[in-house]
Amino acid sequence: MCGIVGVLGTHEVSPIIVEALKRLEYRGYDSAGIATINDGHLDRRRAVGKLINLSDLLVHDPLPGKSGIGHTRWATHGAPSVTNAHPHRAGSVAMVHNGIIENFRELRDDLIAKGVVFETETDSEIVPKLTQHLMDGGMGPIEAATKTLSYLEGAFALCFLFDGEDDLIFAARKGSPLAIGHGEGEMFVGSDAIALAPMTDKITYLEEGDSAVVTRAGVQIFDSSGRLANRPVKAIKMDNARVEKAGHKHFMAKEIAEQPVVMGDAITHYLKGAPPQIALPDAGLDLTAFDRVTMVACGTAHLACLTAKYWLERLSGLPVEVDVASEFRYREPPIPARTLAIFVSQSGETADTLAALRFCQGKADKIVAVVNVPESSIARESDLVLPIHAGIEIGVASTKAFTCQLSVLVMLALKAALERGHMPVEAVQTHLTTLRSLPGMMNAALTLSDDIQAIATKLAEARDVLFLGRGPMYPLALEGALKLKEISYIHAEGYASGELKHGPIALVDKQVPVIVMAPRDALFDKTVSNMQEVMARGGKVVLITDSDGARLAGDGTWKTLIMPMVPDLFAPILYAVPAQLLAYHTAVAKGTDVDQPRNLAKSVTVE
Ligand code: F6R
Repeated sequence: MCGIVGVLGTHEVSPIIVEALKRLEYRGYDSAGIATINDGHLDRRRAVGKLINLSDLLVHDPLPGKSGIGHTRWATHGAPSVTNAHPHRAGSVAMVHNGIIENFRELRDDLIAKGVVFETETDSEIVPKLTQHLMDGGMGPIEAATKTLSYLEGAFALCFLFDGEDDLIFAARKGSPLAIGHGEGEMFVGSDAIALAPMTDKITYLEEGDSAVVTRAGVQIFDSSGRLANRPVKAIKMDNARVEKAGHKHFMAKEIAEQPVVMGDAITHYLKGAPPQIALPDAGLDLTAFDRVTMVACGTAHLACLTAKYWLERLSGLPVEVDVASEFRYREPPIPARTLAIFVSQSGETADTLAALRFCQGKADKIVAVVNVPESSIARESDLVLPIHAGIEIGVASTKAFTCQLSVLVMLALKAALERGHMPVEAVQTHLTTLRSLPGMMNAALTLSDDIQAIATKLAEARDVLFLGRGPMYPLALEGALKLKEISYIHAEGYASGELKHGPIALVDKQVPVIVMAPRDALFDKTVSNMQEVMARGGKVVLITDSDGARLAGDGTWKTLIMPMVPDLFAPILYAVPAQLLAYHTAVAKGTDVDQPRNLAKSVTVE
């Protein structure tokens, strides 16, 4: 993971790099560092922990210079420490790295045998050491850095700065994304366009295996075989306003609150006219051309896929297989003819999801990306991109991206139902008309925030929490548990309600809150029976339901939250709100770092 940035500027670059790193901190926040060319010489500052520690250090110990590189780290090899922090330096070479150099041990042993001394526990340090070693052998900086790339196995985005070279950054990518930004007499390098947004909107994406020689006059890009490559400059539209907290205490709170708006955006992008019709971008998708669907993703995006499986199978009759990307990519499953492969990812950069996508290239009939970042690697390598239009998501715990993913996927399922003749056109239109009113229902659900906060003060004392749901509410139970554990550090598990008595009910006692997500749907009575089984064993139940459900469920719950009435089809989208708010308020009550929980990073670009 890690975020990297490089600037050849006309002003002091340290503040510019810190600003860019702030926008990349979602990639990791274990340590941060900057190197610049100061008076012709390389110098660097590094600090453990969040970027603010580096900013503070720079106040007391400034780092002048108009050329520089910076890094924010998510530790893979070696604990977070100043020594292990990037930029790594070897003689006249400074370098920042995102990814993992898989063969670093053998390369390091080889250099140690030649007398080179290593200072860190990282895989990354091999890169500048090797480059400096090659320079000691007589190569110039560009030749040595290019040669170094040929030794490296694994995934990397790299940015080099060289002592005495005030107008040169060497950059390269293999497996991890990297973008070049074009300014007026200035040039930039960044892990993504978001990092570079305040400086430039003109971006060139490096392709797999590319390296780049960047000077203030421009960039020369070489492909993996060393030939000069012509990569397009794209104008990228970035919405800076959405990177602010807008009066909220945390990005997560802001992102939960803005769901009605962004979900409205997502719906408007796909639903046209009255009665509404679903319009997919580009040439669209012929959903009669497939016999099965395979969906692959990680984390919350995987849970969006699991929900979509219920929708697609029930509405369109298409069999759907859902996998976590880290398993799928190595399982090498057969991909029969007429398979539609769908990859869901907020960032579009998740390494496992990208690898799974590449596995399907040439095997699946069509590859569709459901992403929030349309310029991402996953989007660029797909046949069709369905953007979710959630806007930049900063909180590490995914919220608005989840509900926007669900909104796009439910539209896709309805389109499949229509095209495959599984549902009459009037029924589809009725659903789509209701979907247009879902943002309004979501506003109503958000008004439960105070009630949920009161419950959360008690939930914060729990050691374990269970989430139960049936049918399409089961993946949401998994999502509720994932949200709670990642930001409050409370152990939580999601179960299919009917599965509880097959083992997990042994966990239930007076200390274990059980959150039951049960709108009054066709499966409600069964879920309520499971809830009774929990209450009979002293379990403290929080029932999240609608007014009909509350009336029918009877007494005995610890708390009942009454949600707006919503048609069954859209319940998983609406009920995501209380699940998110429960996790959020519990984390706030516990005083954890809500937006940047420990050990996590927003974009997982290593496997
Ligand atoms: C959980 C969360 C993660 C991501 C997962 C996939 O709140 O955010 O589980 O969903 O890392 O990330 P993307 O969607 O960027 O592929």
